[in-house]
Amino acid sequence: MSESKGASLPRVGFIGLGGMGGRMATRLLAAGYHVTVYNRTRLRAEMLARSGAVIAESPRALAASVDVVLSSVADGAALTQVMFGALGALLGARPGSVIIDVSTVNPRESLQLSEAGVARGLEVLDAPVSGSLPQAADGQLVIFVGGERRVFDRCRPLLDVLGKAAMFMGPSGSGSMTKLCVNVLLGLGMQSLGESLALGERAGLPRARLLEAFAETSVLSPSQRSKFDNIQRDEYPAAFPQRLMFKDFSLIMQSALELAVAMPATAAATQVAAAEHAREQAAHVDEDLSAVVRAMRSDGR
Ligand SMILES: NC(=O)c1ccc[n+]([C@@H]2O[C@H](COP(=O)([O-])OP(=O)(O)OC[C@H]3O[C@@H](n4cnc5c(N)ncnc54)[C@H](OP(=O)(O)O)[C@@H]3O)[C@@H](O)[C@H]2O)c1
Repeated sequence: MSESKGASLPRVGFIGLGGMGGRMATRLLAAGYHVTVYNRTRLRAEMLARSGAVIAESPRALAASVDVVLSSVADGAALTQVMFGALGALLGARPGSVIIDVSTVNPRESLQLSEAGVARGLEVLDAPVSGSLPQAADGQLVIFVGGERRVFDRCRPLLDVLGKAAMFMGPSGSGSMTKLCVNVLLGLGMQSLGESLALGERAGLPRARLLEAFAETSVLSPSQRSKFDNIQRDEYPAAFPQRLMFKDFSLIMQSALELAVAMPATAAATQVAAAEHAREQAAHVDEDLSAVVRAMRSDGR
């Protein structure tokens, strides 16, 4: 890796400046990295440029000018676009450079990216993250990494800027599979919170008092707890959008069917998520995954 100006840091390129990527790129800039950015919608790149980032005109141009390419895009289709397209990063990246994809995608897609990268003399890690917008902003993500251990070790300082824990999970695809397992806990946790509140409220228990009771117990998870303000206000502004949770449920069920693993509770939650997703699309809204709590209310409000 060559040196960035005035510091012994690799030059970094960041593709995908959405809720998560924008915050991660901002952290890298604040840590002193020279950061080049690309985003499909240019306005988001221009916002990062105000903090010192250089804008690339395409993922390909970005990859040609950096040592490490990070990508944080919505899904597998977006990853294909920014990596494999005619203006994709794979065609621009120089041999020896590293690609770290922090998006949540199908483990098979992570493996495909790795194989394509290795064929071009690149190093590739899948490194999806747990945590949401506040954790991305504060460098408190948990990062699950698949690929070669020596590449993980080499990239460790950079990952440590983004997360409080970077865990090596095994060969390519292992990070993505770990992330899907984690999101089983997340998605079912939110579904169960919605059903639990629906039962208690229908029986006449006040919502606020129920939440207070839950908070005293050891069965409540931090992710459930983090949605209490949304639930109290009955407003669900997107932090981890429902559309991404639905995408992850789809990836989880694909893997479960391919591996012949019975996941009956996840299958049921996936159906609820599909209905919620259809409702959001029809209403042209983008809400948080915790909106499932409202969906479970038996009075339909
Ligand atoms: N939000 C969370 O709490 C959270 C937590 C953990 C993991 N994740 C995962 O992290 C990834 C990013 O999430 P996010 O919340 O940052 O999503 P987001 O705010 O919706 O941003 C998505 C990014 O992907 C880009 N994109 C989408 N489709 C594209 C395409 N066809 N070609 C090129 N770029 C495309 C978007 O570009 P535009 O700006 O042009 O739309 C944007 O930069 C996802 O895989 C998600 O599952 C999210």
